[in-house]
Amino acid sequence: MGATLMGARTNSTASVWQSNLAVSTRRTVARDLHSHATVPVKCLCQAIDSVRQLRLACAPMAQLVTDSIAGLAPYQGGKPIEELARERGLSDIVKLASNESALGPSPLAVEAAARALKNAHRYPDGAAFRLRSAIAEFHGVTFGEVLHGNGSNELLELVVRTFMTPDQHVIFGRPAFSMYSVIAAGHNVQFSAVPTDANLVHDLDAMVAQVRDNTKVIILDNPNNPTGTYVEKERLARFLRQVPESVIVVLDEAYFEFGDAPDYPDGLALRDCRENLLVLRTFSKAYGLAGFRVGYGVGPERLINYLNRLRAPFNVSLISQEAAICALADHEHLRKVVSLNNSERVRLSSELARFGRVFPSQANFILVDLGEPSAQIYDALLDQGVIVRPIPGLATHLRLTIGTAAENDRLLSALGKVLQN
Ligand SMILES: Cc1ncc(COP(=O)(O)O)c(C=O)c1O
Repeated sequence: MGATLMGARTNSTASVWQSNLAVSTRRTVARDLHSHATVPVKCLCQAIDSVRQLRLACAPMAQLVTDSIAGLAPYQGGKPIEELARERGLSDIVKLASNESALGPSPLAVEAAARALKNAHRYPDGAAFRLRSAIAEFHGVTFGEVLHGNGSNELLELVVRTFMTPDQHVIFGRPAFSMYSVIAAGHNVQFSAVPTDANLVHDLDAMVAQVRDNTKVIILDNPNNPTGTYVEKERLARFLRQVPESVIVVLDEAYFEFGDAPDYPDGLALRDCRENLLVLRTFSKAYGLAGFRVGYGVGPERLINYLNRLRAPFNVSLISQEAAICALADHEHLRKVVSLNNSERVRLSSELARFGRVFPSQANFILVDLGEPSAQIYDALLDQGVIVRPIPGLATHLRLTIGTAAENDRLLSALGKVLQN
């Protein structure tokens, strides 16, 4: 309240000042014109420009955006390789910071994308008929139960935009995928970020306890990014039945393909636990198409129909659709990616245990608690040409994407060196 009043006062002072200046500038210009003095056009433009600049400088930012948007910072992805090369003059760099695929995309997907380029002057099929049909067939669901997104990130945002109003409430974990809180704040909806338990596993009971009359959505990433931990099938099924039917549960399974624990759940097999369940998957991780931006959701047609109404008309490019269709069909490539990741996950986890507490992962990354501030360690690793990910709120941890065997060796050796010093 106080902040609003202060903002209003500053605002009115600023606008009086601006309009006085504008009036006096206009008067000067008019006087000069009246006396037939030659006013060079350049001077006139400069005067108008300075009024405009001053007006911009005086405009309080709070007027342009809500407090919750003003409080946000832009999404910080893993440091790009080119940026590190530029900043520190390095050339041999390993990036293990963005949970990208260690083996890259299927060659069939790349060929399909290349073939599609000649049609780049055409708009893509807005309804993504062939892509959605392929996904529907792959999962044994109907076409109408599938929705394509510009990455699964777009669908997360679309859920909030479509189903929520600012007087409603969304629940997710903490830590969890950082975009959840950004999306909630960006749409001015109320949110509860429920702390994970002592093992950094989502605390489902605590989440259920947070459900209120105005709770509309719960988002659960399983496995969780950045912890890699997962909620097992029995507990998840119970949770899905417990949550009131008025709530839409979004099960974010961005890393689903990497899960190999016997009790790791397949959200699509739990669809009969509740009606309002939307399962999100992506081509960005195991399928290696992060740069193409393709994700999808599977849920009841009723939900998909509503989401489709606000979806941008051509949200997945023609080239990306073709790449995703072929990536989905290349089972052998997926098998190779998952097999490499999961064997390296075991090896890397056991090696990392020399340096700190390793959280058991079902994803293509591993969280390790080094027991000392990780910001300096992160920075020293950059000097070694190894990019990993510090996690806001987890001051002694680092998140490490699982790479090829050679990349993982390089990480282990750099970490050994840094921690010795
Ligand atoms: C848990 C989780 N959900 C969703 C996403 C978004 O992925 P994309 O938009 O690339 O599909 C990510 C990306 O890192 C993630 O970790």
